[in-house]
Amino acid sequence: MFKESTSRENLPLSAPKANLNILGIESSCDDAAASIYSSGQKKLLSNVVSSQIKVHNPFGGVVPELASREHFKNIPLVVDQALQEAGLDVDDIDLISVTHAPGLIGSLLVGLAYAKGLAFSKNIPFIGVHHIEAHMLAIHIEKKIPFPYVALVVSGGHTHLYVIHDVGEYELVGATCDDAAGEVFDKVGKIFNLGFPGGPVIDRLSKKGNPKAISFPRAFIKDEQFRFSFSGLKTAVSYYIQKNPHYNINDVLASFQEAVVDVLVHKALKLALKRNISNVVVCGGVACNSRLRERMDEVLSVHKINFSVPTPKLCADNAAMIAYTGWELWKKGRQDNFDLNAFPNKVL
Ligand code: KG4
Ligand code: ZN
Repeated sequence: MFKESTSRENLPLSAPKANLNILGIESSCDDAAASIYSSGQKKLLSNVVSSQIKVHNPFGGVVPELASREHFKNIPLVVDQALQEAGLDVDDIDLISVTHAPGLIGSLLVGLAYAKGLAFSKNIPFIGVHHIEAHMLAIHIEKKIPFPYVALVVSGGHTHLYVIHDVGEYELVGATCDDAAGEVFDKVGKIFNLGFPGGPVIDRLSKKGNPKAISFPRAFIKDEQFRFSFSGLKTAVSYYIQKNPHYNINDVLASFQEAVVDVLVHKALKLALKRNISNVVVCGGVACNSRLRERMDEVLSVHKINFSVPTPKLCADNAAMIAYTGWELWKKGRQDNFDLNAFPNKVL
């Protein structure tokens, strides 16, 4: 019988080894990804992402069943490609790290089942990783950030503000009450038929607009509890274009983007100042936003706070962050057993 375990103390596969090849597998939403991190070389050997945007674009959002079916087809392919690009064989893999929460349940189950099957057949230990934890640690693949640091996770499903005290010690300080930052970018994109996801297109079109043209609401900007709310902003954009049929789309988008960015920058800065923390990391897909990067850098540097953001490939969903987080957890003694489940809403 398989026994539940979150420590490798009683498990047979506990050979301590410093130079591990860690295979990361990510399938929490609509991207199937596989990556290999070498703990000995402290670098990524491969990082493969297979996007499903073309499949979901006609529906204006991710269709969960289609996402699961695509993962079923694509995960073995991305794993093969990750091995090939790393110049490794599956027998060279020492540890498998897989996203098991949070996300679309069908998508998570496909990735987790694949990882368990591979781990079982090849006798490789495996670890289930929390997707948000991985986003917040991804920066360390490129740059060492001293603890504690403020982490702002902004993606299609999350707008969460954390203080990271150490690997495994995450203090959630604030979150969105309704839409996530990426979600509001995608919903506003939908209002203007910009395709899915709307975020990257809005980023591009906003460069041609005036961010001060329209004063959109900045909900909770002075909130002491670090809450966020973006659903009213989406409604405000919708009302504005109804009342102003001759609107300039680039100005509307630039002003909308500025409102989101203002709130995010303000809250991250406020938390860093309140806790006297000198490093802020922004991660998740929205961290690719050029205006957010620019304003974070500008505002934080005035207060002598260091701003770090992973390269875009490590901001959006990827398996490199899963492989790396698996390594960090392995060093802390983690290993999971075969009854590990997938959780769509698990809080970190
Ligand atoms: O982290 P991610 O790849 O997947 C989730 O875990 O959700 O984030 C995807 C989100 C989408 O909402 C997308 O519109 C947004 O990130 N996004 C952007 C940009 N690039 C991606 N939002 C604003 N500006 C961008 N450049
Ligand atoms: Zn994500």
